[in-house]
Amino acid sequence: MTDPHIIRFESVTKQYDDGLTVLKKIDFEIERGKFYTLLGPSGCGKTTILRMIAGFMEPTEGSIYLGGRVINKVPPEKRQVNTVFQDYALFPHLNVFENVAFGLRIKKMKPNVIAAKVTEALNMVNLDGYENRAITEMSGGQRQRVAIARAIVNEPEVLLLDEPLSALDLKLRTEMQYVLRELQQRLGITFIFVTHDQEEALAMSDYIFVMNQGRIEQSGTPNDIYDEPINRFVADFIGESNIVPGVMIEDYRVEFNGRRFECVDAGLRPNEPIEIVVRPEDLEITTPEAGKMQVRVDSQLFRGVHYEISCYDDSGQEWLVHSTKRAEVGAQIGLTFDPEAIHVMRFGETEEEFDRRLEAYEEDEDAGVPVHER
Ligand SMILES: Nc1ncnc2c1ncn2[C@@H]1O[C@H](COP(=O)(O)OP(=O)(O)O)[C@@H](O)[C@H]1O
Ligand SMILES: [Mg+2]
Repeated sequence: MTDPHIIRFESVTKQYDDGLTVLKKIDFEIERGKFYTLLGPSGCGKTTILRMIAGFMEPTEGSIYLGGRVINKVPPEKRQVNTVFQDYALFPHLNVFENVAFGLRIKKMKPNVIAAKVTEALNMVNLDGYENRAITEMSGGQRQRVAIARAIVNEPEVLLLDEPLSALDLKLRTEMQYVLRELQQRLGITFIFVTHDQEEALAMSDYIFVMNQGRIEQSGTPNDIYDEPINRFVADFIGESNIVPGVMIEDYRVEFNGRRFECVDAGLRPNEPIEIVVRPEDLEITTPEAGKMQVRVDSQLFRGVHYEISCYDDSGQEWLVHSTKRAEVGAQIGLTFDPEAIHVMRFGETEEEFDRRLEAYEEDEDAGVPVHER
């Protein structure tokens, strides 16, 4: 049986020559044929990871596996990996056809084989008929597609994409998100896509690694990461959040804002200090009497689908609400929410501990008893 993991990082550390450690004991596995995204702010180490997978640099410590084999010292051209760069890195003096054919010519393939492969690759990125165009006559979006065609024509096992869409305007970027997602599914090869844009990551990926300062903070499906952020950094980076300090009084009961609320979390220490996250769309507006919390509406913006409403409670804590109902600025209102809307985050929890805690909670759910009703 073949290993389902095409790439594995084992305790990989990278230190640049100036002594700066930019990756700290990174461990992860990448499954064959899926769309992965490395998501994180600028400078967190995303490009460094791609460079090591491509073979442009070696890790300082640790091992990188490709298809079950350590490849730390294997040169780039001996890896079935291709990269698409943000700045396209095309040859301006060659036309579209020759740009895409470049790698195949180096491999000394026959002209008729090259022609067939280039035609197919251009077809994949919807650039049929552009073979003879000069690169300088192509728009930004078209150049990026040439760059993608040039990478996939080599039939790599892994395609690395380093912020390939960030130079494009919003409309083109959205269009290219569809193109890339569809391409990955058609080709069935592994994509490792890098972005600092959380919406892009959520929309495109099977699996996301959220990075911060040379570490992977959390890995999971877009849903996992959005619904159950492991810590403040992830909750803040992915979508909008209300994050407040609290105390886990006992199983299924938390305190924040001086009041106690039912929740679905268990297995923490009694009276453990925690942080809680409530997503703005999980807060519902009601009358002050019916609310679990009472707040005053400070401002309101219409966002097309919903209103974004900023409220303050008596302690001066802001609560952001996304609601299809409008509120009156200055009005005293109530906010209500389900026990499931409260996400409990422990300080310093590792991803393993976090996963174990969530699994225990999901097993309880599977037993058919809503956890918070006991
Ligand atoms: N060749 C290099 N020499 C020294 N430091 C570098 C080099 N390349 C990147 N860095 C530093 O390593 C860190 C991570 O960089 P990078 O992997 O490019 O991050 P990202 O792609 O997430 O923006 C940054 O602090 C950056 O300044
Ligand atoms: Mg980068």
